[in-house]
Amino acid sequence: MQGGILMAKQKNIYVCSECGNESPKWMGQCPACRQWNTFVEEVKVKTNSIHNSNEINLKNKPEKLSCIEMNQEERVLTKISELDRVLGGGIVKGSLTLVGGDPGIGKSTLLLQMCQFLCAQDINVLYISGEESLQQIKMRGDRLGVNGDKLTLYTETNLSLCVKAIKDLLPNVVIVDSIQTIYSDDITSSAGSVSQVREVTSALMKVAKGLSISTFIVGHVTKEGAIAGPRVLEHMVDTVLYFEGVRSASYRVLRAVKNRFGSTNEIGVFEMRNKGLQEVPNPSEYMLTGRPINSPGSIVTCCMEGTRPMLVEVQALTSPTNFGMPRRTATGTDYNRVVLLMAVLEKKIGMQLASYDSYVNIAGGLKITEPSLDLGIICAIASSFKNIPVNSKTVIMGEVGLTGEVRGITMAEQRIIESKKMGFKKCIISKANVKGINIDGIELIGVENVAQALNYIF
Ligand code: TYD
Ligand code: MG
Repeated sequence: MQGGILMAKQKNIYVCSECGNESPKWMGQCPACRQWNTFVEEVKVKTNSIHNSNEINLKNKPEKLSCIEMNQEERVLTKISELDRVLGGGIVKGSLTLVGGDPGIGKSTLLLQMCQFLCAQDINVLYISGEESLQQIKMRGDRLGVNGDKLTLYTETNLSLCVKAIKDLLPNVVIVDSIQTIYSDDITSSAGSVSQVREVTSALMKVAKGLSISTFIVGHVTKEGAIAGPRVLEHMVDTVLYFEGVRSASYRVLRAVKNRFGSTNEIGVFEMRNKGLQEVPNPSEYMLTGRPINSPGSIVTCCMEGTRPMLVEVQALTSPTNFGMPRRTATGTDYNRVVLLMAVLEKKIGMQLASYDSYVNIAGGLKITEPSLDLGIICAIASSFKNIPVNSKTVIMGEVGLTGEVRGITMAEQRIIESKKMGFKKCIISKANVKGINIDGIELIGVENVAQALNYIF
């Protein structure tokens, strides 16, 4: 028995860095998530200190649903309304939130700006940074206008010292930037490894829940789009927010991927300025500014970002090819989808695109893969090919099938209302969507196929 305990103390295992799946031996492909070359060796040390949750569970007992008292979660508004909306109406007391995103996208900036609003409401915040020095944070804070003595900065990477600081200071909100830099002494693998990240998160969760401290954890994301190391993190925390955007474009989208206290359909839109992140309360207006009017190849469509409709400009350019093989590119949307839609135009409309280079671009750096974009792409290509502009007050949306039929889309009414709000007068949409929708001030043109849509426009 004793030998058994000793043997269990330390062993080498292999952990998938994508999904956290464990295996006693190395494998080329993870049997759980089917990713290749993701297994890394880790030394697993059994510790009795943090993982022993028996005492907590003793207090728990099963209860009837009807006997459970409902007390509304206590929430604090950050006063950054785009962030509050994504969180489901402010920060829930004692909740654990993971903020993920590419390095340099603006996670630290967003959280530091949040600190300012929280401190203005007399809320104590502890900002633990393992990435930047006190001076660096102070400099950034000055630039963002963050001040006040409610905010405490601490640069530390040792988990036990961080936990001690939290217990000593008892702040209302803790920010840990970033999870990949904090390490626990109990584990021998390096900071940022799967088992470290898991251990640190679980320790922080215990503190957050035990002391009712709302905790934000920053996590850098790998190239593939997963929080570096493990997805294991995602199921441990209450809320997962992703901060996304194209580095070259200034707008950023904050998206809830998981939320135990609200909907995951909400997004927040920000713009990175030289004085930090600025909220964009009306993304449609932002996306359409600077749009060329009466220019061939430019059309406007409406896509859904979560529950919010957003108008975007689709641009296309076709020009005679100088080589045998025509070039095709798609920026901000699915390349294969564009090629497919061009094939529909060739076969069903008879447009000779084979001797033309074609470029399609979603303006503003957005990335949209929604099928409702199809008809817009088709019309933009046709408009550039024929060199005839589409009326600038016309919005175009619909999914296109392989036989050239225009199919209905979801949430058509909301999209049409948004288009009307932005001053559009006509909407070309699938006939299936027109039924039952009657909105004053915007004319709906129901079409059954691509030919009808193009006939109407040109
Ligand atoms: P940062 O918050 O450090 O990113 P993360 O924590 O996600 O790694 O953001 C850094 C980027 O933001 C950097 O490239 C500079 C830019 N930035 C501005 O454009 N304006 C600003 O006011 C600030 C603070 C940063
Ligand atoms: Mg940072």
